[in-house]
Amino acid sequence: PSAPNGCPVSHAAAAFDPFSDGYQQDPPEYVRWAREQEPVFYSPLLGYWVVTRYEDIKAIFRDNLTFSPSIALEKITPTGPEANAVLASYGFALNRTLVNEDEPAHMPRRRALMEPFTPEHLKHHEPLVRQLAREYVDRFIDDGRADLVDQMLWEVPLTVALHFLGVPEEDMDTLRQYSIAHTVNTWGRPKPEEQVAVAHAVGNFWQYAGQVLDKMRANPDAPGWMQYGIRMQKQLPEVVTDSYLHSMMMAGIVAAHETTANATANAMKLLLQHPSAWREICEDPGLIPNAVEECLRHNGSVAAWRRLATKDVSVGGIAIPAGSKLLIVTSSANHDERHFADADLFDIRRDNASDHLTFGYGSHQCMGKNLARMEMQVFLEEFTRRLPHMRLAEQQFSYVPNTSFRGPEHLWVEWDPTANPERRDP
Ligand code: HEM
Repeated sequence: PSAPNGCPVSHAAAAFDPFSDGYQQDPPEYVRWAREQEPVFYSPLLGYWVVTRYEDIKAIFRDNLTFSPSIALEKITPTGPEANAVLASYGFALNRTLVNEDEPAHMPRRRALMEPFTPEHLKHHEPLVRQLAREYVDRFIDDGRADLVDQMLWEVPLTVALHFLGVPEEDMDTLRQYSIAHTVNTWGRPKPEEQVAVAHAVGNFWQYAGQVLDKMRANPDAPGWMQYGIRMQKQLPEVVTDSYLHSMMMAGIVAAHETTANATANAMKLLLQHPSAWREICEDPGLIPNAVEECLRHNGSVAAWRRLATKDVSVGGIAIPAGSKLLIVTSSANHDERHFADADLFDIRRDNASDHLTFGYGSHQCMGKNLARMEMQVFLEEFTRRLPHMRLAEQQFSYVPNTSFRGPEHLWVEWDPTANPERRDP
């Protein structure tokens, strides 16, 4: 087989399958061969060019005119007519938000909606994060065993996300199903028989988002990023459009929730797999902020992102024709020896850990990064203080097969409850 630029496709490139367990378990390891030998390759299975090195990926992020983000939320596996008809029956019309908006529309919108992400606004959310973290740990601290994902890390970031957005707290279990469906719909490869069920969930999620937005419009002075958007729409109707608000109402929940839930689960798994690092942060919580950056670098929750080449261009010396789709494997960039010395080493004191590309880079860089960091820091502070003797239980880790959003579906940990510090020292 040959790539769209006429070059032959290597065996390794032809075998690349981001829905396989190899990629799911460890994306940077799965593409090590590429990072070393064929850093930019065409995947016939995906119909995407795959980019794996740090400098190439950063250059792509830097130029959002040549490399348009418009496909960031497009279905990576096109669905069949049946699923499409189901989505249409719900009036599904997810369109541009921020993350997939081109210039010149994107920057004015980003600026108009930035204020709720400034440090002085974010600090109002910390007490809620702390309170929720404490309440959820209270529920299982005497059990000696917990699935941190099911019993805490899924729901707490969801609650925080809903508060940040200004959504009245709704049925979390339903929302949980909806947001998984959105991930599979966007970045996964549902089988034809699954596609219809996914389409129903996504359609319901879309309608739910519309209803919530209507409620918010009736009370636009309430706190929340969405209400802030509704108020900005009155001043800048061409910048903050109806389509944007409805699409963001749905995509915003996923952007703020799953990314952070997965990032914390990945971080806890990594830390408990490195007991000396875990011990160090238990003894000195001042190390937590940099440990969080190193976790985001080494095992982040967004494994890859997407761009569309708007003109003929060269990436890492490879000619890529206009119209090509690119899968930029940020998790691989984060393990690139050319940028991170001894890149596979987990080092909570690494001085350039925060150079990671897990939040993207440049004009679209994650607006919620400081909210996510704050949440992760608070969770680690609570875990290290209250359960320093926790360890990873024997288990197999499973992941929802998709290119981008990555975290273990379950994370079982155990400890001796009679040795809980607060029992010894109440
Ligand atoms: C954009 C990752 C948490 C809101 C992005 C992008 C990535 C990302 C990769 C695209 C960047 C680019 O194209 O350069 C993450 C990760 C998170 C996280 C790994 C958690 C660990 C959050 C939270 C919120 C949020 C908590 C909101 C409350 C956004 C928004 C954008 C964005 C609004 C679009 C920015 C733009 O296009 O101008 N995020 N995110 N994210 N994220 Fe996050």
